[in-house]
Amino acid sequence: MAMDRVALFGGAGFIGSHLTRRLLDEGYFLTVIDVDAEKIADLLPHDRIDFRELDIRDDNDDTVERIVETSDVVFDLIAYANPKQYVDMPLEVVHLNYDQNLRLVENCVETDTRLIQFSTSEVYGKMGHRQGDDKVFSEDDSDLIMGPVENHRWIYATAKQLLERMVHAHGIENGLDWTVIRPFNFIGREMDYLIEEPDAGTPRVFASFMSALLYDHPMYLVDGGENRRSFTHISDAVSAMVYILEGPERYNREVVNIGTPGNETSMHDFAYLMRDVYEDLSSDGEVPPIETVPGEEFYGEGYEDCERRIPEVTKLTDAGWEPQYDLRETLEEAMSYYVDMYERERAASLD
Ligand code: NAD
Ligand code: UGA
Repeated sequence: MAMDRVALFGGAGFIGSHLTRRLLDEGYFLTVIDVDAEKIADLLPHDRIDFRELDIRDDNDDTVERIVETSDVVFDLIAYANPKQYVDMPLEVVHLNYDQNLRLVENCVETDTRLIQFSTSEVYGKMGHRQGDDKVFSEDDSDLIMGPVENHRWIYATAKQLLERMVHAHGIENGLDWTVIRPFNFIGREMDYLIEEPDAGTPRVFASFMSALLYDHPMYLVDGGENRRSFTHISDAVSAMVYILEGPERYNREVVNIGTPGNETSMHDFAYLMRDVYEDLSSDGEVPPIETVPGEEFYGEGYEDCERRIPEVTKLTDAGWEPQYDLRETLEEAMSYYVDMYERERAASLD
């Protein structure tokens, strides 16, 4: 198996760059397709990476199909994956996350290539609003409940859900070998981007709070930070992906959650924990204020939040996978990378 050629569409993104590094360590030959190589630039050139700088929306000469045809397995990680984008450009989100991804699915069907498709925990939608303390999102049992159409944040989850259903249907009607992965809030180094000023962008929450801590602007808690998430260290997540790729189960024609149920926290407690860890890690230890902001002001009209998301992960744990990082360890590992980088840059600028 370790000699297989694996194609990673979106393989230079946050998850993709970590997966690329791990699969290289495992001995695979990789084709990485992305619009931007930045997060894997230090690896290139590499005799086991064929990097293709390509926007799949502009593929007019069947490059994608040829890559799929010459691969044993395709990981599809391409998507707009940031809630601010769902609110600001809902049509573009559907165009990329559904239309373009479906073309890739069809290429896998036509060429008989195994597909590992990235979906999202957001397909469970508002189920968290109904959860008791002990309820978890189960791949094959939970209902998927979206909010009203006018709250167009749900367009991302809806597009991802329809893509999952198309992948499933291609399995039934056309024999496609597939696995759908639903990630639950992975965090780690190289996630999104940092913003030096609060109005310079809206990365996902870990990068947003990390930016505030480093560049000393307020940490904005959306709607008071009552909503809850279960965070997963990217390295635990990637171990689960490798297991799905090469473990004996293979999870063929199955949906698999990847997450760390024990790392559930409110965003309020998450902000305070990040401040606490930062105080330990940084040489100045100064922390910015925490301010509450309404969701529609922070993201724009059409935003609605998910209250809770706790994954059931027995499909993986029954087979021997266990997450290694608790929430504090996750933050210590991820934040030390940024604090060290920032302090090195600051020292260099003072020289
Ligand atoms: P990311 O934005 O870091 O990665 C996506 C990558 O796709 C980027 O490198 C981007 O440049 C590339 N890309 C975008 N449009 C492209 C195009 N037209 N052509 C070629 N490449 C293009 O996001 P991520 O966090 O790594 O997420 C990867 C996948 O996992 C996505 O499908 C996302 O919806 C899903 N997901 C991620 C999380 C998470 O916790 N990070 C959670 C749920 C779902
Ligand atoms: C994310 C994104 O949709 C995708 O990355 C992914 O598909 C999915 O969820 C997942 O990771 O499983 P969400 O968790 O809402 O959605 O995005 P974050 O930006 O990480 O926000 C988490 C929580 O923090 C939300 O309640 C948000 O309102 C809050 N938040 C975000 C803040 O309080 N402050 C900020 O600066 C940013």
